[in-house]
This record gives sequence, structure tokens and C-alpha cells, in this order.
Amino acid sequence: MAASLGLLLVASILLVCTRLLLNWRRLSKAPGPTLAGCTDLWRAYQQCNGRLREKLLELHSQYGPIVRYGVRSISVSDPETISTLYGSRAFITADSYKVLAGIQNGKEVTSLLGTRDEARHNVMRRSVSSAFTPTASLDYEKWIDATVEDLFSIVSKKSTVFDLSSIILWYTMDAASRFSFGEPLGCLQAEGDTDGTIQLVRERVAYWGRWSSLPQLERLIHRNPVAMSQGRAPSNMAGRALAKLKARVAQSKTEYEHPDLLAKFLQASKDHPQLDTTGVIGMLMSMITAAGDTIATTVTAILYYLVVNPESLKKLEEELLQAELPEIPQFAQTSKLPYLNATIKEGMRLFPVMNWPLERSVPAGGATIAGMYFPKGTSVGCSPLAIHHNAEIFGGDVHTYRPERWLISDPERLRRMDATHMGFSRGRRDCIGRHIAVLQMKKVIPAIIMKFKLSLVDPEASLEADFSPGLVHMKSLYVVSESKH
Ligand code: HEM
Repeated sequence: MAASLGLLLVASILLVCTRLLLNWRRLSKAPGPTLAGCTDLWRAYQQCNGRLREKLLELHSQYGPIVRYGVRSISVSDPETISTLYGSRAFITADSYKVLAGIQNGKEVTSLLGTRDEARHNVMRRSVSSAFTPTASLDYEKWIDATVEDLFSIVSKKSTVFDLSSIILWYTMDAASRFSFGEPLGCLQAEGDTDGTIQLVRERVAYWGRWSSLPQLERLIHRNPVAMSQGRAPSNMAGRALAKLKARVAQSKTEYEHPDLLAKFLQASKDHPQLDTTGVIGMLMSMITAAGDTIATTVTAILYYLVVNPESLKKLEEELLQAELPEIPQFAQTSKLPYLNATIKEGMRLFPVMNWPLERSVPAGGATIAGMYFPKGTSVGCSPLAIHHNAEIFGGDVHTYRPERWLISDPERLRRMDATHMGFSRGRRDCIGRHIAVLQMKKVIPAIIMKFKLSLVDPEASLEADFSPGLVHMKSLYVVSESKH
């Protein structure tokens, strides 16, 4: 008995070792930690501990432009590959995006970001694209002005220490809710997550982080027929979006003085019948998820960099003073201010919101990327953090916050830096909301800088965040503010 148990154990160990070896051999020519090539558990471990982001940066400086970080996962930091991976229709989003699909009434509902079906993505994106153009974004300025006013009244009330990250997140969630559904969530007023939306959004993005390394296992556990029929959804995001849609349809309103995004999506579904109800729900899910933490992280990081770099702050203050702006500037007044523009680009370069490479799947027939051949199904992507630290493109001081790097007079260098900036991703699946995001940032950052003098409670404080979810979730950053007027 003992002998057969021993034999079974040896056989099992041999089987596991063979499996690990076969996994490793798949892409053995790509450099990286050996364990990462043997099992995706290495990647899952790094990801769940929020270390993958920095680890990839380290691995690229150790191994060069190609790094293997999973059985079939490759990170590339060669800027030349950006157009291949993100410009071509052949490279669809990788399996890691599968876990983003919500479940509603036993069926999967995919957001714009989570849709892997290129034809469906194309239909959804084309149907709503007119709601996201630079001109259309101006329609939402009124909603943003109202939210900046709410932000001012909360910050003005705070005579003591407060957490900048939370206040900015409440602001972005209220602003997103206003331009998406015409009313704020009420986070600023309540100074908290009024109806659990922030928690819901964060759970969904954290779920992406937890499972994106192991999408097959996630399917087995959470999307088996029993789990699906019991409606055990990974998050209730689809349900929340459906509720917003039902409430609006019940109002049977068709005329809007200031149309919000939901009104525009409903109009789009009339004009493009391919954008069905599931498509509208998918779009709403994207809005709720994509417009809060992304802008909040970026704005908090930029304010932090300005506070700890007084020379940059002074240059920005002088630029804003010369522009003679009102308390809440209009986008038309700030959109072309060069130092403000450089401040934002540099903040997004140094502190991008995505925590791991934007993964794409190699199509049938394989592909040669950065000089190496990869077979069909390999997940290849550029990590924004790693690519933004390319010294050849951005200069030797890549770790330093220096907006001036964007104000040089060498057009070819500037073109290369712009083409390598992946803050909003690139290509067909780049950030559809980027014009809204830029509009918002070019209003709220100058408004805060002009009205308040911020200082860190702990002058040595660094930017702390949870890097384990799909998107960065900022941790508390305590500041003191003094009104400048
Ligand atoms: C500073 C703020 C923002 C940043 C840094 C940002 C960044 C990004 C990035 C990197 C992606 C690509 C993700 C991927 O491929 O995995 C993306 C996609 C997306 N973003 Fe943003 N985003 C921001 C604000 C917004 C806003 C305000 C909205 C909505 C109003 C939005 C809506 C979306 C949507 C729907 C997608 C998916 C697009 C598609 O797959 O076609 N984002 N964003």
C-alpha cells in the first residue's frame, strides 16, 4: 500500500514537472524569470501583490526589450512595436480581458473595454463615437463646472488635514455621474461613497487584477453553467447599469437642454439599431468604471508632483496668472497653455493608470515582434510604465518629473515622445473618453492650483497606491490647504 502511494506520488511529481517544463519550452527563447515561464501562478502572485508593474520595469532593465512574465505572456518595451500591436485589426485583446464580462440574467454582458469580438467592438464604438469627439466633450463642461464648485466648497471647509486622494476621487465620481447620467452621485456632499458605487467599481477592477492571469480557471469557477444560472455575477456592475437605463427609459424624455452620455447612447441606439440594449448597458458599464479612478489617479499624481517640485509649480502658477483666468477656467482658455499641457503629459508618463501590459493576442500564423517570432495565441503587450521609461526616447532622466522635456524645439524628438506615450493607450482601442478626461484635467488642475496652496503633511510622503487591480487605486495622501484669496 505504502509502495503504491509512493509510486503515485512520484508519478504525480513527474507529471507536474513535465507540464512545467513543457510550459517553459513554449517560449523558451524569450528571456525572463524561469518560474514565470513554467507557471502563470508566478504572474498571478506578482499581480495579486501589486508588484507586477514595478517588476516588469526591473525585468526590462535586466533583460532588454522583450520579457516573458507568464507561460504565454510577453511584455515588450520597444516603441516600434506600438503600431503593430495596437494599430492592426489582427491583434485582438488577449484572454485576460475575458474576465471583465459582467453577468446579467445568466448571460454575459461585455463592456466596450471587455469586448473581444472585434466586429461587436467596432459597431459599439462607431455607434457612440460622436459623443466623445473634442467638440462633443464641450457639452459636458457645464457638468464639470458644477462639480468643481462642489469640490471648492468641500476643500474650503477643511481647515485641517485632509486626504487629497479621496476628495479628488469623490470629485471625479460625481463629475462622471453628472456627465453620464445628469446627476452627481453625491460623494462630495456626503464625503464618502454614498451608494457603494466606488466600492462596486473598485471590486470590478480588482476582480480583473485577481483573475486576469488565470482566465481559464476564472471561467471554470465563476462562469460554469451552475454559477451562471444562479446569477453569481463577478460584480453587480451590469445590474447597476441596467437600473440607470430603466429609470431613464421610464422618464420617456427625448428633449435635453444639456444631453448627458446616457441620452446620447439612447439616441445612438435609435440611429444604429446594432447598438442593442445589451450594447447600451455595456457602454454604461464602461463609463461607470472608466471615468473615476483613472482621472482621480492622474490628477492626484500631478498635484503631488507639483507640490514636491516647487519650481514646476511656480512656472505653472505664472502661466495661469498671465492667462488671467476666472476661478473656474473654461477649457477654451486653458486648452493651449503649454506648461499646463506639459505638466499633464509628464504626470501621465511617470504615473500611468494601467498596471500591466495592454495585452494583445498574436493572430493565426504567428508574428515577429521586436525581432522575435511568437506563435498564435501568445499574449504580447506594452506596459505603459516600462515604455515610458525608455531613456532613448524620453532622455536619461526618465525617473524625474520634468515637464520641460515636452517643451523642446526638436519636432522629431517630440513626435517620437508623443508616439510612445501610452497614457491613453493607442490605436483602435485607445481611450474613447480621452477628450473628456483632458477637458476635465485642464479645468480642475488650474482651478485647484489658483485657489489653494497645498502642502504635504509629511514632506517625505511618496505616492502610495494599490497596484494589484487592473487600474491604480490611490491610497491616502494627506495634505493641508490654505486658500490663496
Ligand atoms: C486620465 C484619465 C483616463 C486615462 C488615463 C484612461 C486610460 C485608458 C486606457 C489606458 C485605456 C485602454 C485600456 C486597455 O486597452 O486595456 C482606456 C480605455 C477606455 N477608456 Fe479611458 N482613461 C481615462 C479616462 C476615461 C474617461 C473619462 C472615460 C469615459 C468618459 C473613459 C472611457 C474609456 C473606455 C470606454 C475605454 C475602452 C475603449 C475601447 O476598448 O474601445 N476613459 N482608457
